[in-house]
Amino acid sequence: MTTGKFLAFGLAMAVALSSFSAQADDDKEKVFKKCASCHSTEKGKHKIGPSLFGVIGRKAGSTDFKKYKAMKDADFTWTEQLIAEWITDQKAFLKAQGIDSKTSMSVKIKKEEDREHIIEFLKKHM
Ligand code: HEC
Repeated sequence: MTTGKFLAFGLAMAVALSSFSAQADDDKEKVFKKCASCHSTEKGKHKIGPSLFGVIGRKAGSTDFKKYKAMKDADFTWTEQLIAEWITDQKAFLKAQGIDSKTSMSVKIKKEEDREHIIEFLKKHM
């Protein structure tokens, strides 16, 4: 390969790779749309649900959001695993946690890949 061709190849690869990662970011944002009607990832900005800024590693129900129900008496800290379970099925999650109250959050993310994308998106807002 001549140097010229080699450089052109390298450049094409770099362009392909950077548009690939931009695409992956778009996918994460796209699945988060399922949450965005009720949640923002801005610090302190609550909507129908509490702000999800920094939620991984945060104690459940610990923001100044006024309308917590199920999370009011929760006594655990959000991990990636717990968030994955919570967004799969809220009812089953609350039962497993031994929490009696109902929640007004209602969303079912069935695909593992989508759950992973959502969690990656949350990790970017810490
Ligand atoms: C219909 C509105 C709605 C949708 C859609 C929704 N949520 Fe929620 N979410 C809530 C409400 C309301 C709460 C408060 C729960 C409670 O205390 O019962 C909540 C609580 C949470 C919490 C706990 C926050 C804390 O401070 O302890 C997490 C984490 C969460 N939601 C993640 C998500 C994710 C991720 C999605 C998208 C897959 C999502 N939610 C979709 C309304 C919603």
